[in-house]
Amino acid sequence: MSVGLKSVPRAPGRLPLLGHAVPLARSPLKFVSSLRDTGDLVRVDIGTMPVFFVNSFGLAHDVMVGKSASFEKGRFFDRLRSLVGNGLATADAHTHRRHRRLMQPMFHRERIAGYAQLMADHAQQITASWRPGTRLEVEQVMGEFVVSTVAASMFSSDIGAPARDCVQRNVPVIIENLLLRTVSPKLLDHVPIPANRRFDAATRELHDVLDKVIADARAAGDAYAPDAPDVLSTLLDARDADTGQPLSDAEVRDELGTILFAGTEATASTLAWVLHEIARQPDIEARLVAEIGQVVGDGPISFEHVRQLPLMQRVLDETVRLHGVTLLMRRATKPVELGGYNLTPGTEVAFSLYALHRDPRAYPDPERFDPDRWLPENSGDRPRSVFLPFGAGNRKCIGDAFAWTAIIIALATILPRWQLRHVPGTSPKEATSAVPHPNHLPMTVMRREATVTSRA
Ligand code: HEM
Repeated sequence: MSVGLKSVPRAPGRLPLLGHAVPLARSPLKFVSSLRDTGDLVRVDIGTMPVFFVNSFGLAHDVMVGKSASFEKGRFFDRLRSLVGNGLATADAHTHRRHRRLMQPMFHRERIAGYAQLMADHAQQITASWRPGTRLEVEQVMGEFVVSTVAASMFSSDIGAPARDCVQRNVPVIIENLLLRTVSPKLLDHVPIPANRRFDAATRELHDVLDKVIADARAAGDAYAPDAPDVLSTLLDARDADTGQPLSDAEVRDELGTILFAGTEATASTLAWVLHEIARQPDIEARLVAEIGQVVGDGPISFEHVRQLPLMQRVLDETVRLHGVTLLMRRATKPVELGGYNLTPGTEVAFSLYALHRDPRAYPDPERFDPDRWLPENSGDRPRSVFLPFGAGNRKCIGDAFAWTAIIIALATILPRWQLRHVPGTSPKEATSAVPHPNHLPMTVMRREATVTSRA
């Protein structure tokens, strides 16, 4: 028997008018992780707005998969839409269905294989200036690698060159300010503080350049011929299966923007966290270098190698488990039952992949970085449904294979030649954003002298 929303337990620490804004602002990751102690579905008040937090994989699965037809993207995505456009991540159900079909081909295996060379070239480029003793701001370097790689896969021809430059300049600025803009009331958008000015200038420049490149590419027609199809050419050539209509220029721009915002931060953050975690556990790093040596040898890594590195995959799975997406949201569009409660249309639902993946009910000793927990013999009866770093269902990440390939190629290029070590006395904190990325990760590079040959 299910009961109404009024019976849902409320998180402790609520203040009149402010709701749970104080613990949320002070320590958001700790707060969302603490909610599981109150129940599988818990009411949190953001100011006066109730949001119902899902704290079990079973219910998260219901929202994303089993009962997904009863949910749309939630309130933050409405706000995000007004900031970054109506692309795949923010689109309503109708637009989403149509665009997802059109965009899926650009993330197929053979396309990703086509991007592998440029990923390897960009990984070589970031390491080219490294010398023994070079100090890196790792979170920035990995951001530059990911943004330049994604931009190159989008705009591979000369016509796209201005967009590649513009993306590298502006996307980091936009991402840095996006979360704050998304959760702030709209009326604060026009307050002339530096953060608003930087955000507005960067968005404007990016829009203008994307619009120009799209117009130039359309005008060039068949002369817009990248060596192999890139993301821009695929979007321009896409035709709706039912109507035969192409995407409008604004739709193409919004999808390009969405890939940039949805794809870059989490990928760069994962790369940075891997380097942090393995520097703290040199035995794992040594096994990883040995595996790369055995599979890849001395030459550059190719796409074929990417799937032959089981320890690498376990290290990445463990990294995204520990450093997952902060918050996803949905809103009920019709009456729906969830965990024994009746949700009414308009109910806002949220869940944190970060918190779910640190649930001791699913992962013993959850705070420990332990790639070997993913060995088949250690997985016990843990179902795959408790590992959702890319979400699930029809809104699941479209770029997971792209992300893994870029990350693996970068690590297999860096690690056999370079050892990264923390600058003494430094230790990164989790900066609250769409993914909790390391706030500051200074590391020093040393040349890796001998190839480790023990078995991975
Ligand atoms: C480690 C890296 C990444 C992580 C952890 C990640 C995570 C996620 C998650 C959890 C979602 C689901 C959001 C929801 O259900 O509301 C998502 C959606 C999405 N991601 Fe990723 N992502 C990553 C990399 C990428 C890359 C590299 C791209 C593109 C090149 C990308 C593009 C997208 C897009 C377009 C969506 C929206 C999909 C839809 O609604 O159909 N992501 N991502």
